[in-house]
Amino acid sequence: MSKIDFSGQVAVVTGAGGALGSAFCRELARRGAAIVANDLGGEPTGEGTSHGYADAVVDILREGGARAIANYDTVATAAGGQAIIDAALSAYGRVDIVISNAGNQRNGAFGTLTEEDIESVYAVHAKGAFNVCQPAYREMVRQGYGRILLVSSQSGVFGNPFRANYGSAKTALIGLMNVIAQEAPDGVVVNTLFPNAQGGRLGGTPLSERPDVAFLTAAGERSRHFIDGMKPEFVAALACYMASRQCDRSQHMYSVLGGKYSRLFVGLTEGWYSPGPDAPSCDDIMANIDRIDDRSHYDVPLSGLDEMDTVLKARRALGL
Ligand SMILES: NC(=O)c1ccc[n+]([C@@H]2O[C@H](COP(=O)([O-])OP(=O)(O)OC[C@H]3O[C@@H](n4cnc5c(N)ncnc54)[C@H](O)[C@@H]3O)[C@@H](O)[C@H]2O)c1
Repeated sequence: MSKIDFSGQVAVVTGAGGALGSAFCRELARRGAAIVANDLGGEPTGEGTSHGYADAVVDILREGGARAIANYDTVATAAGGQAIIDAALSAYGRVDIVISNAGNQRNGAFGTLTEEDIESVYAVHAKGAFNVCQPAYREMVRQGYGRILLVSSQSGVFGNPFRANYGSAKTALIGLMNVIAQEAPDGVVVNTLFPNAQGGRLGGTPLSERPDVAFLTAAGERSRHFIDGMKPEFVAALACYMASRQCDRSQHMYSVLGGKYSRLFVGLTEGWYSPGPDAPSCDDIMANIDRIDDRSHYDVPLSGLDEMDTVLKARRALGL
């Protein structure tokens, strides 16, 4: 099996100054990629700016002999996203890999989140992915090759308390991946990563001041047993596979937590089929709810049409 190598390829990493972004950049560069290290800098909430985060990564990459440039635009606007991709095109003439990784957090109990808390997190995580991936995708379609990697979070797909804005914005990326993957031409693949790592600035508020302290303490108790596997390098290994030529899978979701790598998927239980012509009553639903809930048999539709196939399967099972 050939080793993964990014020689001749150009990678854009947003939020490159953070714990994960810098680990992604280092591993991509070590394997030959030219890097655009984007980072707005500023506070974990997304306020303020600083060139220091992107510059620090670029210094490390250049010291290691890699080609790298810094970019300080925000992913939160369409103009910022375009400028990030334009930076890659003007420096290197192409863009092969985009890791949409920039992130902020404004945590709080659902009832207390302000409109600003919601909008700023959606702007960076959900709209930010559109802003950066759209101009990159156009270029990838033109050149017939591309790897898009969306960095999501278990906070939405599985749920973590006190992150309704963040968790829902991150889960939007699953829908974005599904649709782009189905529209994309051969050669352009898009996948989603669910990372877990320590060392990020997100969540830097002292525990004593956080409303979610009890939840975090419980998570801390559990995580003590797999601390080694929480190094950003564990995530970078998966991200670099997903960004590689060798990764021909598209519309896949992979999770890494504490050294365990898994595929994540959306399943549909075999369920209960009501063939009509009259609609069932809510009493019928109640009578069959255990069957509808039963996860022992399930399908994994990869498109809306795939879900229709599961209905045809249920009809066939009834001899219809
Ligand atoms: N660390 C984890 O365990 C974990 C778990 C799940 C998901 N994630 C996600 O992984 C990504 C990286 O997380 P991290 O732990 O490295 O966090 P981090 O805070 O260390 O890095 C995020 C970086 O994004 C930058 N950024 C914020 N807003 C930006 C904007 N508008 N434009 C450009 N850059 C911006 C920040 O300056 C920061 O350097 C985030 O999207 C985060 O939500 C992380």
